Amino acid sequence: MQVIAFISGKGGVGKTTLAANMAVALAQRKKRVVLIDLDPQNAQRLHLGMDPDEIAGLVREGISPASLFDSPFDIKFIPFGRVSPVELLNFETELKANPRWVANGIDALRSEAVDFVLLDTPPGPTVYLHQALRAAHRALVVVLADAASYASIPQIESLVSQYTVGRTDFRGMNLLINQMPSQGKLGHQVRMALYADHAEQVVPVAIHKDPRVAQALAFERPVLEYEPGCKASLDIQYVVDWLLDSLQQ
Ligand SMILES: Nc1ncnc2c1ncn2[C@@H]1O[C@H](COP(=O)(O)OP(=O)(O)O)[C@@H](O)[C@H]1O
Ligand SMILES: [Mg+2]
Repeated sequence: MQVIAFISGKGGVGKTTLAANMAVALAQRKKRVVLIDLDPQNAQRLHLGMDPDEIAGLVREGISPASLFDSPFDIKFIPFGRVSPVELLNFETELKANPRWVANGIDALRSEAVDFVLLDTPPGPTVYLHQALRAAHRALVVVLADAASYASIPQIESLVSQYTVGRTDFRGMNLLINQMPSQGKLGHQVRMALYADHAEQVVPVAIHKDPRVAQALAFERPVLEYEPGCKASLDIQYVVDWLLDSLQQ
């Protein structure tokens, strides 16, 4: 079982979108995938066409075979769940007291013959990032090809090393460029700078900025299902092939 955390220093970069679509792409390759929403925004369900009024999820049910939803698109899913502010506060207190809460829950899924567990997280240094990195074998840091994302990398890099200290089964972080503009020089300049500084870590395929991504979300479907041939969908397929290849090595 491989546990992959989608993380970022900044919000709105595409973690939720990419986690959903990479889950779908892995399922299309006959991998058994569990997607877990570790973000109180509870937005992952929007990508999967799940009932918005569903209150069950991570907070109330925890992570176990019994809390898995059968989502469309052939993946198993645990939404964050809809919770009150008090429930959220209590939950975060529990997470702080037990840094392996998520890791232990994922261990409990071993009986389910799962190939991949994908973890969606909120941006920045949160208790959810800490939990995700205690459980993950690999972190995908989603970045935009802009100066602000570039500048946020050292901070996320130090959080990753801090939160994975002593984890012998953690294989490192990769930088995944999203919303790459098709035109203009700036995106390419930032991309080249990323390669220059982090050659080993940059995923060799960047995901294009593509209007179909937002359209797919409006229809509550992954873009891979909504428009399989569009630029972003093809890029996501390449990234998943790269991921599977890199796990073989
Ligand atoms: N490759 C892309 N092309 C165009 N829009 C994108 C792309 N990836 C994400 N978006 C849009 O960016 C916004 C933020 O994406 P989201 O996945 O919610 O980011 P995060 O989870 O990191 O906050 C959404 O409106 C989404 O539709
Ligand atoms: Mg998100």
